[in-house]
Amino acid sequence: MLNIVDIRAVAEAAHAAGALVVVDNTFASPYLQQPLELGADVVMHSTTKYLGGHSDLIGGFVATKDPTIAERLYFLQKSLGAVPGPFDCWLVLRGLKTLAVRMRKHCENAHAVAGYLAESPRVQQVLYPGLPTHPGHQIAARQMRDFGGMVSLLLESEEEAVALCAHTKIWKLAESLGGVESLIEHPRTRRPRRRRSRRRGTSCACRSGSSPRRTSSRTSSRRSSARPPPPAPECRGSRSRPKSTSSCACRTLLSWEPCDLTARRTRCPPGTTGRTDVRC
Ligand SMILES: Cc1ncc(COP(=O)(O)O)c(C=O)c1O
Repeated sequence: MLNIVDIRAVAEAAHAAGALVVVDNTFASPYLQQPLELGADVVMHSTTKYLGGHSDLIGGFVATKDPTIAERLYFLQKSLGAVPGPFDCWLVLRGLKTLAVRMRKHCENAHAVAGYLAESPRVQQVLYPGLPTHPGHQIAARQMRDFGGMVSLLLESEEEAVALCAHTKIWKLAESLGGVESLIEHPRTRRPRRRRSRRRGTSCACRSGSSPRRTSSRTSSRRSSARPPPPAPECRGSRSRPKSTSSCACRTLLSWEPCDLTARRTRCPPGTTGRTDVRC
């Protein structure tokens, strides 16, 4: 995470080979980076994140300058029914009105946090594109207005990273970005172990919609005395569509891949076990 891709160079190479370039610009937002201007053919955004900005909607959009691609996308939109509801659209429009000020604040906060962490002897490495030490700093400075609100840091061990996530007060342990809350996560474990072990007899690490919250002892005791929950939806392997995407909306399911935790773990690149991500 937080690798910087030179969009212009990629677009030139891809076009020379006859390929299209699609950029997921969610982390940057259109305020910070405009991939179509840099040569990309298609840009996509999760509006759930910075564009909505208040963690109260789920949505996304795809934009292109190419009329042929637009026609094909329009056909898919019509035939698959990928159309947001009017209220979700209204929430995105409301969010857009404050996008610029929110993005400036996200960047300012992330700069301050990254600078502070970079000074700490307990932190091995801070990955923030705004720091000159980041390998993609020059490229980011060229193609972005500012460096965004995401900060990654490496600590010495996984234990330290997990402990850090459990002890922050302002940063809540949750897996999202773009809202007004400051969040922290340890990507390898994703969510607290106690939460995972309470899943309903399935290896599917899924959750629907919003970020996981810490459970208070009151809620857990109420839960334990309540009726046992219904069985969780089965996690299907690749190519098989889940019966209900709304009750099993984890990222891996969106691409119809198996989504057990073991599979995720094996994809974790070596040397990243102590990594923690901070969203400002
Ligand atoms: C870069 C990026 N793109 C897209 C998405 C998908 O967002 P949504 O929650 O709207 O499905 C995410 C979710 O975390 C993301 O981080």
